[in-house]
Amino acid sequence: VLGKQGAGKGTQCVRLSRHYVIPHISTGDLFRTAAAAQTPYGKLVEHYIAEGELVPDDVVIGVVAERLAEDDTIRKGFVLDGFPRTLAQAEGLAELLAPDDLDLVLDLEIPKEVALARLSERRVCVSCGTNYSLSRPPKFDWTCDICGGEVVQREDDSEEAIRRRLMLYEEETAPLVAWYEERGKLAVIDGLGEPDEVQARMVAAIDAAIRSRHQ
Ligand code: AP5
Ligand code: MG
Repeated sequence: VLGKQGAGKGTQCVRLSRHYVIPHISTGDLFRTAAAAQTPYGKLVEHYIAEGELVPDDVVIGVVAERLAEDDTIRKGFVLDGFPRTLAQAEGLAELLAPDDLDLVLDLEIPKEVALARLSERRVCVSCGTNYSLSRPPKFDWTCDICGGEVVQREDDSEEAIRRRLMLYEEETAPLVAWYEERGKLAVIDGLGEPDEVQARMVAAIDAAIRSRHQ
């Protein structure tokens, strides 16, 4: 799933992974977990994340390669959230998957002002990563509805880091939309509206792609 910061990639990919019962692979989540555990590679990536910079391609591709080699993704398939986001990563992914390929790439589209508004309101659970926002808070006192963890603002949701991430999106990630379109893989999804509505659009696009493959 492609899309600007704040497009709802995380929100929607978690739901897709439940709907199709497949693993959800988010490079951002993998990096945040490693940074919190202060593993050697967690220490390497944490300053890139805090400043809204992209983690170097070779590190990202290495992490995804390891995850894709695990048994569950091989058996069930997967939904990728926030990867690839450079041309080098898209090419690296194609090599990893060959002779197979991605089934479909969904591009979640929202205007930049909506992205900014959503990110400045976002709050996340430190334990399980569930998303909330100032307008959709957890039921009880910033405690996660699902796991009881503390719900806080993400460190890279500062105004400066948000601006940098959105600029890098335009420079590095937006060109992937045309790249996947040329390869006949792209479905553009309107990311505005209630999360349930957006999810229904995504499921419809995926199911249509599955049907046309079996015809
Ligand atoms: P990552 O965690 O991927 O962050 P990101 O790209 O900045 O994207 P976001 O998580 O901010 O946006 P989202 O689209 O998931 O939106 P969400 O669902 O939360 O990456 C973090 C960092 O890791 C990067 O900056 C980089 O340093 C590094 N990194 C990760 N992958 C990398 C890679 N491949 N290469 C290099 N570096 C990499 O929604 C946002 C808010 O909106 C939430 O509050 C949500 O509740 C709300 N919302 C969602 N949908 C709706 C809706 N329909 N209506 C109203 N509100 C909504
Ligand atoms: Mg996300």
